[in-house]
Amino acid sequence: MFQLTYQSKISPELTIGEIENILVDARKRNNTREITGCLVYFEESIVQILEGKKEDVMDLFGKIENDHRHHTLDLLWEGPSRQRYFPNWDMALYAPADDSEYYDSKETFITNMTLLADLSKKTTSALLSFWSTVRKNLNG
Ligand SMILES: Cc1cc2nc3c(=O)[nH]c(=O)nc-3n(C[C@H](O)[C@H](O)[C@H](O)COP(=O)(O)O)c2cc1C
Repeated sequence: MFQLTYQSKISPELTIGEIENILVDARKRNNTREITGCLVYFEESIVQILEGKKEDVMDLFGKIENDHRHHTLDLLWEGPSRQRYFPNWDMALYAPADDSEYYDSKETFITNMTLLADLSKKTTSALLSFWSTVRKNLNG
């Protein structure tokens, strides 16, 4: 098993709905290739962890790196892992609700995400860099 964490920026015009659309197709492909992971989107920042067979993860990362829907991409960590940490997720997505009716949705998101980042296992460097980058983005 292999894990890779990166961060990037999405242009402000891209709505959460459009990111969800990217993930609809992404999940189908991930399911076929047995790629799992998690993506957190907050204030134009993306942090994503990919896990699977090394060649599949590297192949996918090559595509993601060249995807013009985001930019300023930084590879944070890549390395082996003894097991999957998101075995049931073709790609989990965490993003604040795109609904101005709930004026406090951003605050709720920050609280919930901070708690999740604190409680989650960080048994590999890829996981540690994933959750610490999520936390850094939440704190602005
Ligand atoms: C932020 C972001 C995350 C992405 N995550 C995935 C993913 O987990 N799996 C996937 O197959 N494609 C993902 N993509 C889409 C890929 O960049 C690429 O468009 C897709 O794999 C299709 O590539 P292909 O047409 O060359 O096969 C993501 C794109 C962006 C912008």
